[in-house]
Parts: sequence; structure tokens; C-alpha cells
Amino acid sequence: MEEKKNILEIKNLNVEYSSSEIFTKNKYYCALDNLSLNIPAGIAIGIVGESGSGKSTLARALVRLLDIFNYNVKVSGEILFYTVDNVTDINKAKAKQLKKIRKEIQIIFQDPASSLSPKMTARELISEPLCNYFNLSNKEVSQKLSEWLELTGLGNIDADSYPRQLSGGQRQKVAIARSLAARPSVLIADEIVSALDVSVQGQILNLISDLKSKFNLTLIFISHDLSVVRNISDYVVVMNEGKIVEEGNTDEIFNNPQNDYTKKLLSSIPLVKFPH
Ligand SMILES: Nc1ncnc2c1ncn2[C@@H]1O[C@H](COP(=O)(O)OP(=O)(O)O)[C@@H](O)[C@H]1O
Ligand SMILES: [Mg+2]
Repeated sequence: MEEKKNILEIKNLNVEYSSSEIFTKNKYYCALDNLSLNIPAGIAIGIVGESGSGKSTLARALVRLLDIFNYNVKVSGEILFYTVDNVTDINKAKAKQLKKIRKEIQIIFQDPASSLSPKMTARELISEPLCNYFNLSNKEVSQKLSEWLELTGLGNIDADSYPRQLSGGQRQKVAIARSLAARPSVLIADEIVSALDVSVQGQILNLISDLKSKFNLTLIFISHDLSVVRNISDYVVVMNEGKIVEEGNTDEIFNNPQNDYTKKLLSSIPLVKFPH
């Protein structure tokens, strides 16, 4: 089998949060502990682990969001990001490189209501990356906007709706359209269906899978819900207390877990709906 090229190589990544918020100044809490992981281009990689295991910290570290939201954070290690003609250490990237990286690596969160500006309409939210990243005429922007609405199953909404006027599923679709309109190579999805009704979850998962194939994306799919991850991932990484305890092809991890923590995690989740 042909070896796939890595698009991301995480080497000895440490993230420590200052515990000043919890009244023990100068103590740091280690959220990621010397974590290393290679991510081949074009793969759908699932990251699982209980709440607090460091999944969101990892997601945010990949797009250098940690030092923006939180000044009390220490990050070390390397996150190498490969493009056709270049490799950048995300941890060391300067403003100009970060701008490029943030186009190439898009992230969607659990709650689009908090990540989408409430003052922007669906039209504005999806047009913004089109205008920021591509040199398009107004007509081309509105054509692309219609295409993205169609592609994400939003063809029937009023594009001038504000997020609060849309359902949870529709809002998440706007978030997906907005992130993919930048034409990234990597999409990070952090618990993106966790707040949605089960029926809507399925729709969003199918949509993400389809768009991943269509645009040849590398998908980093994070969820505490193993059944969701099993459906969407080629490869699974199991995290516990800031470390990777096991990783492997999805079938291997689910059918023949080696690590005690993975076994415990799997046994706590009803998997009856998935026949072998
Ligand atoms: N901004 C922060 N400041 C201090 N501690 C944090 C912060 N964000 C997360 N943590 C802590 O880091 C650990 C990992 O959190 P997180 O990455 O959100 O885990 P997960 O997404 O797997 O639930 C948790 O113990 C959490 O309390
Ligand atoms: Mg999280």
C-alpha cells in the first residue's frame, strides 16, 4: 500500500494551563503531556476520550488559538504543517504565516451560536471567507454563496437570516459552509454534533463525510461519543489525561483494543447498533 504523506506532525506537544484561576498561583496544570501524532493527508482521524482528556486543547493548539484566549498557558513542542512547497512549525509561526495556516486549517466547534457572530447573516458569514481569501467579483461571491448553501443543504433558507433565526442543525451547516468556503486542506470538528438532536446528528455526519470526500479534506473529528467517531473515522486516537493511550485503524481499535483505558471506554458505550 502506498504510504500517505503526513500533512501534520505533532512532536512532543505540551500544553500547561496556569492554575491561577483556581487560587494556586504559579502552579501549572498539564493538559497535553508530551503528545506526538502524525496525521496523513486525506485521512479522517477520530480523536476520542472522556471529558477533560485534552481533546479541545489539542484542537485549539493546532490553530494556535490557545495563546489568544488564554494568556496563562505554556506551550512547547512542534506542530509541523506541510503544504505542497513548504513546512511550517505552527507553534513558531509569525502573523503572516498564521494567516495562511488559519485559511488552510479550519475549525468548527460544538456550539455554532457562540462561534458565529450573532450580528452577521448567513450570507455575510459565508461570504466573508470568500472575500477574504479569494479575489472575486460581487457576482462571483454571490454565485459561490449559493453553491455553498446548496452543498450544505441550506438551499431553502433565507440567506439573510441571523443565526438565532435558524435551527441548531442549520446553524451548524452555516458554520460548515463558512469554514469550507475558505477551501482549507484540514477541517477540525470539535464535538460538532454533541449539542444536536440524534436525527440531526446523522444529517450533519453524512454531510461532513460527503464534503470530506468531495474536497479531499483531512478531517480531524473529535468526540467523546465513540459510536459517532466509529462511523466517520478511518483511524482512531484514544486520549486520556493529556496523553495518547492507543491509536490505530478504526476496526482494530473497536474490535481488538489493547489498552485497558480503551477497553474501559468501549465497554461503557452501547455499540449494539453497529453490526460487525
Ligand atoms: N482555559 C483553561 N484554563 C485552565 N484549564 C483549562 C482550560 N481549558 C481547559 N482546561 C483544563 O484542561 C483539561 C483538558 O481540557 P479540554 O482540552 O477542554 O478537554 P476535552 O475537550 O477533552 O474535554 C481539563 O482538565 C480542563 O479543565
Ligand atoms: Mg472538548
